[in-house]
Amino acid sequence: MAASRYLRILLVASGLSRGSNDGQPVAESFGPSLEVAQGRAPQIFNAVHDAMRQWGESLHHNGMSFFLATVPEGVILHHGNNNEESPREPDWLAYEVEHAEGFARGGFGGPGGGPGRGPPGKPPAHYLRSDNLHGQVELGSIERAQEPMIHEVVDERPLEEVKGGWLHTYRVVRPLRYLYVDGMSGGKTSMGTLDSQDYLLRGTKEAFEDLREEGDQVHSPPPPPGGGGGGPMNERARAVELCALCKDWNLSGIVRMEAGFEIIQCDFSDGLEQLHVSQRPPSNGGRGPGRGGSIGNFEFLRGLSERYYDIGSARTFIDYSSMTSAFFFPVNLTNPDPARPDLPRLSNTTDAELLAIQARLNQTILDRISDPIRTVDWRDVTDLIVGRYADRIRYMVEKTHAVSQIADEIDFLLTAIIDFSGKDRDQTSAAIDRCANFYLHGVNPVTESDELIRAAIHAVTSEICTKLFDVRALVTGESNHDADASSTLPRAVAILTSLMTYLDWTRFKRCGSCEVHEVCFVPMWPMGTKKDYDSPRCVNASSQNDHGGGYWGGFGRPGHGPGDGKGGRGEI
Ligand SMILES: *[C@@H]1O[C@H](CO)[C@@H](O)[C@H](O)[C@H]1NC(C)=O
Ligand SMILES: *[C@@H]1O[C@H](CO)[C@@H](O)[C@H](O)[C@H]1NC(C)=O
Ligand SMILES: *[C@@H]1O[C@H](CO)[C@@H](O)[C@H](O)[C@H]1NC(C)=O
Ligand SMILES: *[C@@H]1O[C@H](CO)[C@@H](O)[C@H](O)[C@H]1NC(C)=O
Ligand SMILES: *[C@@H]1O[C@H](CO)[C@@H](O)[C@H](O)[C@H]1NC(C)=O
Repeated sequence: MAASRYLRILLVASGLSRGSNDGQPVAESFGPSLEVAQGRAPQIFNAVHDAMRQWGESLHHNGMSFFLATVPEGVILHHGNNNEESPREPDWLAYEVEHAEGFARGGFGGPGGGPGRGPPGKPPAHYLRSDNLHGQVELGSIERAQEPMIHEVVDERPLEEVKGGWLHTYRVVRPLRYLYVDGMSGGKTSMGTLDSQDYLLRGTKEAFEDLREEGDQVHSPPPPPGGGGGGPMNERARAVELCALCKDWNLSGIVRMEAGFEIIQCDFSDGLEQLHVSQRPPSNGGRGPGRGGSIGNFEFLRGLSERYYDIGSARTFIDYSSMTSAFFFPVNLTNPDPARPDLPRLSNTTDAELLAIQARLNQTILDRISDPIRTVDWRDVTDLIVGRYADRIRYMVEKTHAVSQIADEIDFLLTAIIDFSGKDRDQTSAAIDRCANFYLHGVNPVTESDELIRAAIHAVTSEICTKLFDVRALVTGESNHDADASSTLPRAVAILTSLMTYLDWTRFKRCGSCEVHEVCFVPMWPMGTKKDYDSPRCVNASSQNDHGGGYWGGFGRPGHGPGDGKGGRGEI
């Protein structure tokens, strides 16, 4: 009980509180179903499509799904801290060297530093406004920690304290299995980016312990709220608890994403070989070691943008057939923040529902852990579908001036799947059926997750094909005797616009190609503004600093509503 109460205090303190709802059991029929998957088809489609992609996960940042992930042998990972030694506790690994380098500072903790060891150092230039990263700042000091974020940080510590930190490089020596938590799951916000970890993984873990111990003493008392947990929104406590779960599952840790992909590595002696550890130069006035100023910021962004659509070089394989998602279950995911109905939350689910979802996750992991990696590559399937339709639909909505232009485009898309022989009794519905199944013939579902994903993808393609045939009827005059009437174009565009809203593909927000001195910028915790979220655009090294931050809110400070955007200064 103590643990559960502790968790509640913690969640209240971090702005993640929700109504107490203990004791309501779930109905026996509660579980994943094809109907629910069809009802949440676009969300499931997008969760699959966005997996391990900095772009999609940044926009659909409240992840509701988990996947088993494998990092193959030979992958190089990085860790930065203030210490020549490899961490002996759960700590962070970065996929990109500059991400780890940002934490390789004297006295500084991060993905991986030893949080709480020594005075907090200043962040590197590219994390100028984010010295509240992993494990660095305690909950109570978040306010203070944000103070220096607005202006260029000038390090005022005496020189001897400003020694360079250490950069550790590791090579993976055997395939390592992880749990991938999707969305901006490394983003320490109260907008919902931590829901799946804190409500589902940690909350139910506590609840399981409670059930197991039936009121007995909890073995080791948890640290006091807002204190020893360490790190923004108790990042250290989160890592430790998630690693306790990983131990049960025989997983090496958790793959997450913030501005960059990272791993919570539970044991640095598990499958990692240290290649080298090197000391960074002494810090120069608070700028990133040897790479300060706006160039450093900008080049950090450029590196991130390189991972928008692919982590690269087959560095991580996702087992889509192991997908476990709150989207599969009949739970209320409505965001209590009326300003963001687009973002799902787990804050209105009951403990019993969370337990049921975690039980399925547990079972899925046990079932899949020894199976071959990647039974069905569902992300490839979604890529084919998005690739065929996204730009064409957007073109019709945004760039056409005449009905004939839409008619030509629709004709191109649909003629291939219509049988003109007269064999089909109902030519249109037979064609819609063929169209909806077009990219699904080649895949054979193996697991229940596969069946649910398939149902979701089929629901999405059915919607696309149905709407395209509706537009076809309109522009060819089948359902509209005066296809050239001035109302036809806006009616067709309205159908396609509502289709875009339904699909909610992050591809619709791509910038188009930027110049070589520019990067398409989207908010990535802790950077960015609401405007950047609504309409990502190309930025250059000087314009990136023009706009304010604040998209990610006030880091869960009590008294701040979810995602109210106040107090956060998340610009680069
Ligand atoms: C845990 O995983 C390792 C490496 O994949 C494997 O060698 C070991 O047998 C597993 N342990 C259990 C208890 O399944
Ligand atoms: C679902 O959750 C929202 C937000 O918390 C709440 O307003 C709504 O009443 C809930 N719906 C049901 C059916 O419980
Ligand atoms: C869900 O939200 C409604 C309306 O805000 C509230 O009455 C109810 O207690 C919430 N349920 C849970 C389980 O949090
Ligand atoms: C997972 O399931 C196994 C087998 O049913 C059970 O022993 C274990 O306690 C479960 N673990 C969690 C964290 O739910
Ligand atoms: C950077 O972008 C800003 C805003 O678009 C523009 O005014 C400025 O000229 C650009 N600077 C360079 C060096 O391209």
